[in-house]
Amino acid sequence: MTLRVIAIDGPAASGKSSTAAAVARRLGWAHLDSGALYRAITLAALDNVGEQGAGSGEQWSAVRIVALAEELPVRLVLVDEVFRPEVAGVDVEQAIRSERVTHRVSGLAAIPEVRHWVNVRQREAVLGHPGGVVVDGRDIGTVVFPDAPLKVFLTASPEERARRRLAQAGEGAAGQIDPERLRRETEALAARDRADATRRVAPLRAAADAVRLDTTRLSLDDQVGRVVALARQRFPG
Ligand code: DC
Repeated sequence: MTLRVIAIDGPAASGKSSTAAAVARRLGWAHLDSGALYRAITLAALDNVGEQGAGSGEQWSAVRIVALAEELPVRLVLVDEVFRPEVAGVDVEQAIRSERVTHRVSGLAAIPEVRHWVNVRQREAVLGHPGGVVVDGRDIGTVVFPDAPLKVFLTASPEERARRRLAQAGEGAAGQIDPERLRRETEALAARDRADATRRVAPLRAAADAVRLDTTRLSLDDQVGRVVALARQRFPG
């Protein structure tokens, strides 16, 4: 049987999650944002291990964090076709977007045992949902679902991604983004791209058979439309 999964990967602020959510709605499939699981474990560790233990990558104890994720537990719950992160029975979709979590999550996502735990949860979620799941992240097409029939790798220039990120944060809503602010955000994103692409575990890269979609000049509607069209070809009927 064909695995009904669409893998959407790409760098920070490339529009992966918005695209994946909209594609899932159009197809009547579920949506799973894998970054949300990394964020939920980070939140759980910060709240239970404490800020002291949550320093650089080396200071996190892999065994302790995975045990914590099992015990609390950290899990994904399907609500209206969206897999939502929960910690100890509490929905944390809002809490995981805080600056405190954003600041710490990449250190935790660099731990192989944590990545393994997250990957097992993702595979369980997809196998338990035969109707189909759109999964977005950094390593979905390369590591988590290398057998996904449709893999999409979204890109956009660092400047365009910086512009979108600032607009999303409410800056320059009228199209008036301060050029210096834009330059700094563009540099920060380019630096994060380099770090993500060169990290030792599961570096960000496109799978050999991924469809690359440069969204620099595409609207969200256009990029969603392209992925939905590809999905209808790959998953007929
Ligand atoms: O997409 P995001 O910003 O919510 O992701 C949060 C962090 O998790 C980010 O540092 C990248 C990491 N991540 C990852 O390493 N692999 C994934 N499949 C998804 C996210």
